[in-house]
Amino acid sequence: MLLSPSILAADLADLKGAVELCARGGADLIHVDVMDGHFVPNLTIGLPVIRALKKRTDLPMEVHLMVSNPDRLLDDYLEAGAAWLSVHWEAADHLDRTLNRIRQAGAKAGVALNPATPVEVLLDILPATDYVMLMSVNPGFAGQPFLPYVVEKARRLRDMAHRAGSQLTIAMDGGVGPGTIRQVVGAGVDLCVAGSAVFGADDPAAAMKELRRLAEMESG
Ligand code: DX5
Ligand code: ZN
Repeated sequence: MLLSPSILAADLADLKGAVELCARGGADLIHVDVMDGHFVPNLTIGLPVIRALKKRTDLPMEVHLMVSNPDRLLDDYLEAGAAWLSVHWEAADHLDRTLNRIRQAGAKAGVALNPATPVEVLLDILPATDYVMLMSVNPGFAGQPFLPYVVEKARRLRDMAHRAGSQLTIAMDGGVGPGTIRQVVGAGVDLCVAGSAVFGADDPAAAMKELRRLAEMESG
C-alpha cells in the first residue's frame, strides 16, 4: 500500500514542517490538493507553494487537480514537479489527450472520480490511465465523513482493471483513517490518501505508521 498524506489537513502556516513529518512517518508520496473555487467551492494550494515545497522534500508530489478545464494548467504543474498528476473526470473534456500529455511528461497520469460518478465511465480509457482516485467524500474540504458506498466502486474497478489486464493503481481519497482503511484496502485499493487522520493526530508520524500497520493487516 502506498500512503499519501494530504497536506490540506496540516498546519498551513507550517508546510515545511508538514513535509518533514511525512518523511518521518514513512509516507510514500505527498498529496497536494489544488482547488480553484469553481469546480469545488474552496481555494487552496497552487503552483508557487508546490515549487517551494519541492525544494524542501525528496518525496514525490502527488497533485490532485480539483479545477475546471485542467488542460490549461497541466504543463505548469508538471514543470513545477508533480510526479503524479490527477484530473477530475467531471472536469476534463478531452481526457485521452490530457492523460497522454501527463504521461509524455514522465509523470503518472491519474483520473479522479467524484463519489456519484460510476467507475464504468473509465472502461475505454484504462489503457491510458496509471491511477484512478476514487473520491470517498465530495471534494472541497478535508475532514468530511467517509462515504461507505464508494468501497463497492473500488471492488468493481479492481474487477474491471483485472479483466482488462491493466496494472491500474487504485487510490481512495476522503475520510480514510484508522476506522476505514482496512475495508478500503480489502476492496483492492493500493494508494491511500489521508488528511485529518494524519495531521489531526497528536503525533502525525505515529499516525502514518499506524495506518500502514492496519493496511498491512488487511493486505497480508
Ligand atoms: C478533499 C481532498 C482530500 C482531503 C482529504 O477535497 O481532495 O484530499 O484533503 O482529507 P481527509 O482525509 O481529512 O478527508
Ligand atoms: Zn485530494
